[in-house]
Amino acid sequence: MEATAAERGPFGRRLVYLPEVASTNDLAIRAAEAGEPEGTVFAAGAQTAGRGRLGRTWVSPPDAGLYVSTIIRRQALVPWITLAGGVAVAEGIQSATGLPVQIKWPNDVIAVGGQGFRARRKLAGVLAEASTGLDGVQYVILGFGINLRSASFPPDLAGRVTSIEAELGRAIDPGAVLAQSLVALNRAADDLVTNGAGGIVTRWLALAPSAQGASVEWDGPTGIRQGTTAGLASDGALLVRTPAGVERILSGEVRWL
Ligand code: BTN
Repeated sequence: MEATAAERGPFGRRLVYLPEVASTNDLAIRAAEAGEPEGTVFAAGAQTAGRGRLGRTWVSPPDAGLYVSTIIRRQALVPWITLAGGVAVAEGIQSATGLPVQIKWPNDVIAVGGQGFRARRKLAGVLAEASTGLDGVQYVILGFGINLRSASFPPDLAGRVTSIEAELGRAIDPGAVLAQSLVALNRAADDLVTNGAGGIVTRWLALAPSAQGASVEWDGPTGIRQGTTAGLASDGALLVRTPAGVERILSGEVRWL
């Protein structure tokens, strides 16, 4: 793997690759239950049951994407791992390929090309799944999927997703994208442990211009709500200004207007 072992820290110290699995998050969960240490990376060439956020499927055909999961055990990382994962993948893509990307709350990585936020397409996503016991969180599985090259996505997805190679118009080195994402994850983890969440929140906000001043709508408990994004709360919730006041969105997703 590219990048030095010191730059990656525990991430990728051991790497398990399988040509096809149901879900790399499931592989990582089984290994974590059996005592696998933080940082082991599980990667697959294709997934037959890839999971996305909000119960969705992550379409994972062969030769089209990176499908990767790792184990997080340090408690200081747990509350921030979703945002840190988005920052790591965005920084990893940018440093390995030069493609400018942004983050859409909470952690969709999107290509910047296009006219305004609404036209922007998703390149990568992050799914953090925690295992909780009587003593709190035992471990978190951090999974990320990165679209490397165009694949035949189902028609409902085709207009909303893109890939690194489609955006750049040239072939890229998947190993470099994986290595740089792990380097960025290690940097984010060290920063969280040493300095708390301040640095990660600052980097997330710099990568997510649509978290301030963008018109959005979302599904609230009583129907569709609309407002203007107003930054990030100290717990990672998205703040949205509405005529009724500032609301906190903790889960789900927002749509650009
Ligand atoms: C999202 O909905 O944006 C999150 C997608 C996360 C997909 C990755 S691919 C590797 C890992 N294994 C899974 O089943 N899901 C995650």
